[in-house]
Amino acid sequence: MAESLNGLKRTNMCGDLRESHISNIITVMGWVQRKRNLGGLIFVDLRDRTGILQLVFGEEINKEAFLKADLVKPEYCIAVTGELVKRQSPNKKLPTGLVEVNSQNIKILSESETPPIYIKEGLDASENVRLKYRYLDLRRPDMQKIFMIRHKTSKVVRDFLDENGFLEIETPILTKSTPEGARDYLVPSRNYPGKFYALPQSPQLFKQLLMVSGYDKYFQMARCFRDEDLRANRQPEFTQIDMEMSFVEEEDVMAINEALIKKVFKEVINEDVVLPIKRILYKDALEKYGSDKPDLRFKMEINNITNEVKDCEFVVFKSAIDNGGSVRAIKVDNAADMGRKKLDKLGEFVKTYKARGLAYIACKEGGIKSPIAKFLSETQMQSILNKVDAKTGDLVLIVADKDNIALHALGALRLQVAKELEILKDNKEFNFVWVTQFPLFDYSEEENRYIAAHHPFTMPMDEDLKYLESDPGRVRAKAYDIVLNGEELGGGSIRIHNSELQETMFKVLGFTREKAWARFGFLLEAFKFGPPPHGGLAFGLDRMIMFLAGTDNIKDVIAFPKNQNAYCPMSEAPNMVDDKQLKELGISKTEEK
Ligand code: AMO
Ligand code: AMP
Repeated sequence: MAESLNGLKRTNMCGDLRESHISNIITVMGWVQRKRNLGGLIFVDLRDRTGILQLVFGEEINKEAFLKADLVKPEYCIAVTGELVKRQSPNKKLPTGLVEVNSQNIKILSESETPPIYIKEGLDASENVRLKYRYLDLRRPDMQKIFMIRHKTSKVVRDFLDENGFLEIETPILTKSTPEGARDYLVPSRNYPGKFYALPQSPQLFKQLLMVSGYDKYFQMARCFRDEDLRANRQPEFTQIDMEMSFVEEEDVMAINEALIKKVFKEVINEDVVLPIKRILYKDALEKYGSDKPDLRFKMEINNITNEVKDCEFVVFKSAIDNGGSVRAIKVDNAADMGRKKLDKLGEFVKTYKARGLAYIACKEGGIKSPIAKFLSETQMQSILNKVDAKTGDLVLIVADKDNIALHALGALRLQVAKELEILKDNKEFNFVWVTQFPLFDYSEEENRYIAAHHPFTMPMDEDLKYLESDPGRVRAKAYDIVLNGEELGGGSIRIHNSELQETMFKVLGFTREKAWARFGFLLEAFKFGPPPHGGLAFGLDRMIMFLAGTDNIKDVIAFPKNQNAYCPMSEAPNMVDDKQLKELGISKTEEK
């Protein structure tokens, strides 16, 4: 049975109906959540994206409708007309729980098989089933709520940027590779056999060119594509709130984005973000939290105890220090009783961050317990405890290694311990921080050269310009990231707007002049024609929605996401294509996996 509407119009959405609508004749359309047949009466819960409404069918109300209602099953799509009346047995849990419909007419618009996913709040299906039947998963009210939040967020962002003089301009999807550190998705060209477009990793160069063109303030809800290893907060295809402004410095870009964040969090989830957002220098974030995206909802800061242990007998500490490294520690409050097994597991954990081991000092009621106590004098032990401010009941965890390894291992350990001890369990905070003064370059051991820490278009800090060629590792960038609860929400920088400096930058990155011009000639050329000073930022929209919707899985906020292997179980993309298509593209297959 699949009846057509035949002129029937919906008058109301299910979730909107209240006592003020009583005695209205209404028509609602939606899906059957459940049906109960109590003999002479049939109750149907009807669902649309706004909520659930109880429909009553009775022999006394309308016999024909009653008989037809008995045919419906969950997820049938129906249209019902009737009078809205006061509900006989009110349901306080439902916003519509004080009313119901005395149903006079029902159309069965389409039938439904028993769905493989139970359509209700909360999950009951595996991720694979959810993704395979994504259209049903998306029918669940909690998913629908997320996409309403997503819509609202985009709208608030657009309105805000519009009010602040930004123009929304689209940039190409078929483009030339602009390196942001990930692998490109490539699209073969039919017109130029053997040549490829790249899908944009971000609109970086185009937005800079729009500044050269005088658009002054640009934004775009930009789809970006990166072929990288996927994680809980990464998808191959994601959306940025991308923006660029002319005649600005760091403070200007940060100020407008703080205002944007404040507005979004207020309007979407009624959360007051206090401005200005605090700031931390990259080097301090690394020293204190072992991360360039520190989670500041809890302390457990890293302490440098190199001085305190430099004269001790423990060879591990000594050799780390002699090799130019350091000894660092975190203190975990009230964790002195942590068992041996757990401590061993933490030891294994830091090894995954290349640390060679983890030493501990447990400040138990009965005295210190520590495998390294025998190597330390009482004074040395006391000075460590003083340095990290450990009291009875606390646990001190120590890593000795090269600075970089010790810091990253302890940074990760800090988060791991917080997770295991559920330190953030009931924490509802949104803890924002700007991380500034990033290094301009990272040194890649693999490639044996400097690579851009953010991207190659980022302006060095004025005071470090002089080291650009002589000591690149020392140069800091006019770059900033906005971090929320330990996640990178967005990042940006002031850009180079000078051809020569841009060429020097490419040189330091190991590009020959020819290679730089072959890849980025259009930018270098454009910079010959009066480019304005400019800078910008991009938020990960999906990541922002994750916070607003309170989910830790990025797939929940993208309507049709890919799975962990960049595959779509529903549409089965990527798929094989016809030989004819390949031939047109001048592509031949070498092997099939
Ligand atoms: P960046 O590479 O830091 O900067 O990206 C900006 C923001 O995009 C989000 N993001 C992602 N979200 C989901 N899945 C992914 N795979 C993914 N990769 C990045 C993050 C990140 O902070 N053009 C520069 C911005 C600029 O300089 O203006 C850029 O793309 O939230
Ligand atoms: P050992 O004397 O070999 O039993 O080591 C004593 C403790 O030092 C053990 O708990 C080791 O896990 C720890 N340890 C080993 N290497 C390091 C290191 N690089 N940093 C901190 N602790 C370490």
